[in-house]
Amino acid sequence: MLVNSKEMLEKAKKEHYAVPHFNINDLEWTKYILEKCNEMNIPVILGVSDGAGKYMGGYDAIYGMVTGLIKDLNITIPVCLHVDHGCSETCKKAIDAGFTSVMIDASREELDENIRITKEIVEYAHPKGVTVEAEVGHIGGTEDNITSDIFYATLEECKKIYDETGIDSLAPALGSVHGFYKGEPNLNFERMDLINKELPIPLVLHGGSGIPDDKIKKAISCGISKINVNTELQVSWSKAVREFLNNDDKAYDPRKVIGSGEKAMKDTIEAKVKLFGTRI
Ligand code: 13P
Repeated sequence: MLVNSKEMLEKAKKEHYAVPHFNINDLEWTKYILEKCNEMNIPVILGVSDGAGKYMGGYDAIYGMVTGLIKDLNITIPVCLHVDHGCSETCKKAIDAGFTSVMIDASREELDENIRITKEIVEYAHPKGVTVEAEVGHIGGTEDNITSDIFYATLEECKKIYDETGIDSLAPALGSVHGFYKGEPNLNFERMDLINKELPIPLVLHGGSGIPDDKIKKAISCGISKINVNTELQVSWSKAVREFLNNDDKAYDPRKVIGSGEKAMKDTIEAKVKLFGTRI
C-alpha cells in the first residue's frame, strides 16, 4: 500500500528504531527492494533523487512503475514514494504525479529563504496528504555528481524551520556525508539528542552508507527515525555484476546481467534493516 511517511516515522520515533529509505534507480532495483522489505515485513521509503527521476523517465512513469509492482507482486507492507533532495519544481511535479512524500532541499539558501521555499511546498503538499521533509545545515559529500561541504545545523535553526513551516520530518546536517567517508564520520550526537528532545517531529539521517554500525545505533538512540542509504546498495550491486561479467564473457542478456546483482543487493538491505531494528 502506498502511504505517506507520517505514521511510519512517528511510530519509529516513539519506539526507537529507524525506517530505511533506499534510493531507486530502475525497475529492477525497485522490485528487489519491495520484495525484500515485503519478505521482512517492514515499512520502506523509496527515494527518488532529481537525477534518478529524470533517468527513469519522469514522475508519472515512476508512480506507474511503483504502484504496478505493488499490485503485481502482492506487496502488503506500507510503501512511501518520496522525492529525495528535490527543488520546488520537482517536488510539485512529483506531488501532482501521486508521490506520497517529498524532501524539499533548500539548504543551500540562507535560513529565511530555506524557510520560505519549504513553507510553500508544505502548503502545496499537505492539502493532498503528502508529507514534507526539510534540511537545515548542509550534508556534505557527492550525490548526483553534486559535491558539497558539511555545515552543521544548529538547534535554533531546527526550531525556527519547524515552527515556521509545519514540516513533518527534518534532516539536520550533523556531520554525515553522501557517498564514501574520508576517514571516520564525525557525527555530533549531543546536538542530535538535543534537537530530538526539543522537536516533536522525526529526525532523518542522510548519508547512511559507510557509517559504522555502533554509530548508526547511537544515532537511532539519539532520535534518528529514518536513515537514507544509496551508495552501499550501488556498491554491493555493481560488485556482484562486475564479478558475473568477469566470469562470463559471453553473457549478453540484460535480465541476467542486471539480475546478477539481486542477491548482493538483497543481502545489503537485510543487513541494514536488522541494524536499524525496523518493524511494522
Ligand atoms: P549514501 O549514498 O551515503 O548512502 O546517502 C544516501 C542519501 O543520503 C540519499 O539522500
